[in-house]
Amino acid sequence: MNYKTEIAEVICKIDDSLDINFIEGIIEIPPNSEMGDYAIPCFKLAKHMKKPPVVIAKEIKQSLEGKEVADLFSQIKSQGPYLNFFKNYEKNSKIVISDILKNGDKYGADKIGEGKTVCVEFSSVNIAKPFHVGHVKGTVIGNVLANIHEFLGYKVERINHIGDYGTQYGNQLCAYKKWGDKGIVEKNPIRELVKLYVKFHNEAEKEPSLFDEGRAWFKKIEEGNEEALQLWNWTKDVSMVEFKRIYDMLAIEYDSYAGESFYTDKMPAIIDKLENEGLLVESQGAKVVHLEEYDLTSAIIKKSDGTTIYMTRDLAAAKYRKDTYDFYKSIYIVAYQQDLHFKQLFKILELMGYEWSKDCIHVDHGMINLEDGTLSTRKGCSVWLDDVLNKSVDKALEIIEEKNPKLNNKEEAAKKIGVGAVVFEQIANKIIKDHTFKWEEALSFTGETAPYIQYAYVRGNKVLKKIGELELLTTEGELIDSKIDYSALSDNESKKLLVILEGFEQVVKDSCKDNEPSYLARYTVKLAQAFNKFYNANRVLNEEETIKNARVLLIKATLQVIINACSLMGIELLEEM
Ligand code: ARG
Repeated sequence: MNYKTEIAEVICKIDDSLDINFIEGIIEIPPNSEMGDYAIPCFKLAKHMKKPPVVIAKEIKQSLEGKEVADLFSQIKSQGPYLNFFKNYEKNSKIVISDILKNGDKYGADKIGEGKTVCVEFSSVNIAKPFHVGHVKGTVIGNVLANIHEFLGYKVERINHIGDYGTQYGNQLCAYKKWGDKGIVEKNPIRELVKLYVKFHNEAEKEPSLFDEGRAWFKKIEEGNEEALQLWNWTKDVSMVEFKRIYDMLAIEYDSYAGESFYTDKMPAIIDKLENEGLLVESQGAKVVHLEEYDLTSAIIKKSDGTTIYMTRDLAAAKYRKDTYDFYKSIYIVAYQQDLHFKQLFKILELMGYEWSKDCIHVDHGMINLEDGTLSTRKGCSVWLDDVLNKSVDKALEIIEEKNPKLNNKEEAAKKIGVGAVVFEQIANKIIKDHTFKWEEALSFTGETAPYIQYAYVRGNKVLKKIGELELLTTEGELIDSKIDYSALSDNESKKLLVILEGFEQVVKDSCKDNEPSYLARYTVKLAQAFNKFYNANRVLNEEETIKNARVLLIKATLQVIINACSLMGIELLEEM
């Protein structure tokens, strides 16, 4: 139930020239509760209704009298140009709880996205390179944003734009041919391939002609040389096996793994079009698009040796996505180092006359450092995501052994806690911020963490189990009011919890609108905190029947929202921990 819509509907009936969305948009939530739970600033209606605000306030108040919506409020008061609404708390508790329990896993979901497709590109790792910890942030953010869009009714295409093309893969092949051993690589593909990659760069520092050899190998790939293609495909295959293992750990699935090389045959059309539009200019042997007049540097489209680059493939990919999915929005989740690249990309698409370039969005995010220091691939000492995940799981197991050694399925629990902790960390703060991953903090059961949320869920579940099934719903799923004393939920802690529960829908929508999964993460921590406070302040067991029932329902509703929030974030819950 949406209070704003209920109020807006009545107002629309007073004057049918008013638009419901407009009215919903002007309804405010006052900063302090003395001014009510909702307020209509009637001066914002004065122009449309051609009446003074005070008169409008009175008129709305009158037209609400005797209507069903009026029952939702204990008081409707006009104060100057404002009309303030005070919720009827008992009624509200019932509405919120019943809304949550009736909708279950769908509570907070919406249909606003129906009929619209959104492409969400995320993770986009590079073959023959580690899925290092720097990628984890984008991977998690993308997964959460994809889930949220789906929850709001959009059709989502999850795309992994695998980096599998470019000169560096020529270097890779060159290194493998010189120093590689098939048997060794097959045992531990990515690690061995990275070792070769590192060796290549170290050697090339001493002997720069190696780069020419690397380029020659890439040219062979581009020209379809059989040996080159076969080796390159093999490195792709062995890399994909490893990536998929990590996506499995995170329970992430993709609709498309169309990598950069997928666009090879789609680039000529792009280059022709750029040529025809007069956008392509010769510069020192290369072909570029000048973007200086838009305060951007020129973008190279074709290098002097005729090979294409990252940008060319991105142009082809964007066009392909529009043609294939006819997207409403196309989102790229990539770290802020590539801000310039995406500005150039979207500008070029616009200059090419693609009006849909405005629907392409770069969701940029910060970097993650490990306490022990994140290191680059080139120096060969990068931290691997699966190591981080496994270490987190091991640490979670240590904590379980210490806190609850008798727990069933300790390994399973440690996996959920360990992985959940890493996932949550990525979205715990505004995504644009860089952050340092600290084990102790991420795994703390008392901090603002996934384990804290998981633990609140376990606590709630325990009480419900102790109490057993109560028959508080009719067969139609309606609450049986005679068994429930809603006034038991009028203490401060219960009220605060109810307000948070009611806010879930809005948080999901805001996270989607701003592409900011941290809203949802912060929200869920607040919900868990409010639940713990409620639980510490109120007795549930050994309480009078109707009071106990009301509190049980509030716990059930809370657990449901924790489930929905965690499922959007990709964090698994446990029955016990
Ligand atoms: N593979 C690239 C990297 O690891 C990221 C690709 C981003 N997506 C894109 N469409 N350019 O840096």
